[in-house]
Amino acid sequence: MPSGIYLIGSRDGAERNLMTANWVTQVASEPKTIGVGIERDAVTHGLIQRSSKFSVCILSRADRALVRSFVKPCEFDPESNSLSGYAVVETEAGLPVLASSLAYFDCEVSGTLEYESHTFFAGEVREVRFLAESEEAEVLRMEDTRMHYGG
Ligand SMILES: Cc1cc2nc3c(=O)[nH]c(=O)nc-3n(C[C@H](O)[C@H](O)[C@H](O)COP(=O)(O)O)c2cc1C
Repeated sequence: MPSGIYLIGSRDGAERNLMTANWVTQVASEPKTIGVGIERDAVTHGLIQRSSKFSVCILSRADRALVRSFVKPCEFDPESNSLSGYAVVETEAGLPVLASSLAYFDCEVSGTLEYESHTFFAGEVREVRFLAESEEAEVLRMEDTRMHYGG
């Protein structure tokens, strides 16, 4: 299915992570809600379950190579405030987002659907921020990469 490709940020206390995901979709406009399908055995899954929060980073096409760095759990370096070597900033709720994101959504889980392989977390959008210098910046889509994901 055609889709975008995003980084999902999650955090529980000192533990934080960013992961590459393309099973991400808009769910409702009132209240604004975004949903993500997350593998049950992913670090991100546990962090979202424990904190009931996640962030969604909209990436620049120029950053298409970096999604490969977020298909395994990240290492956090507090000195440089980076995850797996990439600078991060925090949303108002304290979730990590990639500093070079064009924009991000910060969501609070408002519903879950559990399946054998994945959980669908629906999250109400609490904060939206544009980080891009220009709204003309090109957004990364799945077809800009040679990657695929079948769960
Ligand atoms: C192109 C691509 C898209 C992906 N999309 C998803 C996704 O939508 N949901 C998911 O759970 N994992 C997805 N993955 C797999 C995760 O990135 C990978 O399992 C990661 O290890 C899980 O992250 P974590 O254990 O660090 O939380 C995708 C991987 C790739 C390469």
